[in-house]
Amino acid sequence: MDPRILPADSDARILRPCRHSSSHQTRRDPSAAQAQASRHLLTSTPFSQTWGGALHSIRSPCQSQHREEETMARPHIEPFCDRDVPFKKMTLPGFPSGMHYKMLSLDKDTGACTMTVQFDAGYRQPPGFSYSDIELLIMEGGLRVGDEMCGPGTYFFIPAGVALPAVSTKTGCLALLMYNQTEPNFVESDEDGDGADRSRLIQVNAYDDLSWQVPTLMPATAPGCLLKILRWDEVTGALSFLYCMVPGFWQDNISFHDCAEEAYHIWGTSWIMQFGDLPTGGYFWRPPYINHGPFASEHGILAFGRTDGELYNHFHFNPYTTLKENREWAAEKLKHRKPALFKWIVAHEHNHLTGSELKK
Ligand SMILES: [Fe+2]
Repeated sequence: MDPRILPADSDARILRPCRHSSSHQTRRDPSAAQAQASRHLLTSTPFSQTWGGALHSIRSPCQSQHREEETMARPHIEPFCDRDVPFKKMTLPGFPSGMHYKMLSLDKDTGACTMTVQFDAGYRQPPGFSYSDIELLIMEGGLRVGDEMCGPGTYFFIPAGVALPAVSTKTGCLALLMYNQTEPNFVESDEDGDGADRSRLIQVNAYDDLSWQVPTLMPATAPGCLLKILRWDEVTGALSFLYCMVPGFWQDNISFHDCAEEAYHIWGTSWIMQFGDLPTGGYFWRPPYINHGPFASEHGILAFGRTDGELYNHFHFNPYTTLKENREWAAEKLKHRKPALFKWIVAHEHNHLTGSELKK
């Protein structure tokens, strides 16, 4: 993986409050995040060394209890706010100048990542494709993609190898950009790459062209949390979606899931018992089986979310359960809900499916 894309904001990851602390009503500390981000900018240490140091040398006794989750490719990041760190210039080969990013989360093995991206006014990108599936959500400004002007709310799922026409912006654009299998890469080309599956391409303006839905997932979240489904992977069950909480939303129980989940606050602040307030620009990458909730939002939120598998809400009221206990509890429930899958889990000594395993 190219070390140039390692996150400049990696120090912010150590701000994650400990779930075993005496107070569960923790709050994000923006001044501390800014101070650490500034300290990072003052050092000439390569990002790879800085990131490794943050994860491995700065670990409190409390953090060491999370070793199980830290062994995952994308570590638990929560809470984090992109407003607390500066943009960095995208310098990877193939990318035109005028693109800046904030790294939100990164799979250190594959380079798959989620970034807030700023395309400067005047940015121009020739036709081309990536070797990774890409997801893009325009949040502010707009991009001209070929002959089409795409404004806020436009979502793209661009399968690996599918070429986009030329992309440009006159006035600039703020977007979420996700590379799902590899580090960011761009190949200039007027044609699709070998093996590209254009039938999987998605382009939709989620603000204008989709309606809010009451979630049909069972067990259900509290009333007042609504969804717009952007993408559903029929193999893995992975979801990409917009969601909102109405003003005054609250949910009094604790959740965990068998899948990882990720969210970015486009607008608004929500509160969660374990991690405090998540404001506009707030982000989390939450590996499976981590307790989260109760939730509340005074004025409501608009957010983008993803999961990497089927989203099932395991609800309970005990904030002290461990990852191991949650995983075992989930497996026990699965024994009754999906007995064949449970047998598979036992055979493989884990119960988190991936796409490649399901396709076999
Ligand atoms: Fe959740």
